[in-house]
Amino acid sequence: MNAPTKIDPNSPDHGEFSRAAAAAGLDLGSDGKLDTMAMARQETVLSPRFYTTDFAALDAIDVNPVRAEWDDLIAEMQADRNKLHFKRKESFEGIIENLEPDLREEFTDFLVSSMTSEFSGCVLYSEMARRTRNPDMKMLFKLLARDESRHAGFINETLKDAGIGVDLGFLTKSKKYTYFRPKFIWYAVYLSEKIGYARYITIFRHLAKHPEHRFHPIFSWFEEWCNDEFRHGEAFALLMRADPKLLKGGNRLWIRFFLLSVYATMYVRDHSRPVFHKALGVDPTEYDYKVFTVCTAITRQVFPIELETDDPAFRARMEDLLQSSRRIDAGKARGGLMGAFQRYSGVAGAGLAFARMYFHRTRENALPASVRMQPSW
Ligand SMILES: [Fe+2]
Ligand SMILES: [Fe+2]
Repeated sequence: MNAPTKIDPNSPDHGEFSRAAAAAGLDLGSDGKLDTMAMARQETVLSPRFYTTDFAALDAIDVNPVRAEWDDLIAEMQADRNKLHFKRKESFEGIIENLEPDLREEFTDFLVSSMTSEFSGCVLYSEMARRTRNPDMKMLFKLLARDESRHAGFINETLKDAGIGVDLGFLTKSKKYTYFRPKFIWYAVYLSEKIGYARYITIFRHLAKHPEHRFHPIFSWFEEWCNDEFRHGEAFALLMRADPKLLKGGNRLWIRFFLLSVYATMYVRDHSRPVFHKALGVDPTEYDYKVFTVCTAITRQVFPIELETDDPAFRARMEDLLQSSRRIDAGKARGGLMGAFQRYSGVAGAGLAFARMYFHRTRENALPASVRMQPSW
């Protein structure tokens, strides 16, 4: 990788994204290529995190209340239907390099952030498999780590073809780890698996109808890929249903918090990639709400409440959150006293918008007797 050069946020040579990247403290390589390592390592509210947890607590987990469904799911994962899926017949060399610069930058950001979140799953699941003595947990996390390492590896190969692969060993050591209690891991990881499914399948179905927008071959892998994510989510749904207190009382507030955090983060992050979505022929607002609808339908297998993302009042607050987050970015780029003022006003606005969405009424949901679902979207 080339030695990074600090970029000037006001330079006219770079697009919107580069200015935003500079504002976020990212470096461009001296040849103008984005430093993907810096992108993967960045720690912002929006960037994918690495997690760690109380590994000893895994030993006490009992899946017997959902044993039959559990054993079916594990057998399905052991059958390893996607064993040969993540192999390519030819390299993707030249494709990213030939995209127009703004699209290349936003698409690279999309790939790096997807890769980081796949890889963070791989790191967490491997550690869980290694540290637990509970045979059910050991088996599950080995299978999950197997899949996530394929997913992360596949995206990284794609980046490497363009000469911008990420050093995963170094990333493991240099990234900060956020500690979560196991129950928070279940809420966060369940949602990230299911929303990952909803995102990939929505893009895949859209491109099946509009192949002229498939500007990179990696999108053709999304269908089988997202079925892996769907299965991963099933495991966490079963773990939560096996321990009903996780879905009751004060925990309902946590579920609400995690749902909103995941949706809001995705909304703001997707809206920072206008050129990427235009190239896909997708309006980010429409796309995000479609993904939320799919994800909410899936979460009825486990969560006793759902967010009213189709309510215009909720959507107006989501838009407030996006505008506030843009004020924060603009304030950072501007610097100085006025920049600081803009930033604080953005932070206050974002906090208020988030709180109003959090206290927006939710819909109650009666949990179905059988947990498992089919990926039918
Ligand atoms: Fe994955
Ligand atoms: Fe996954």
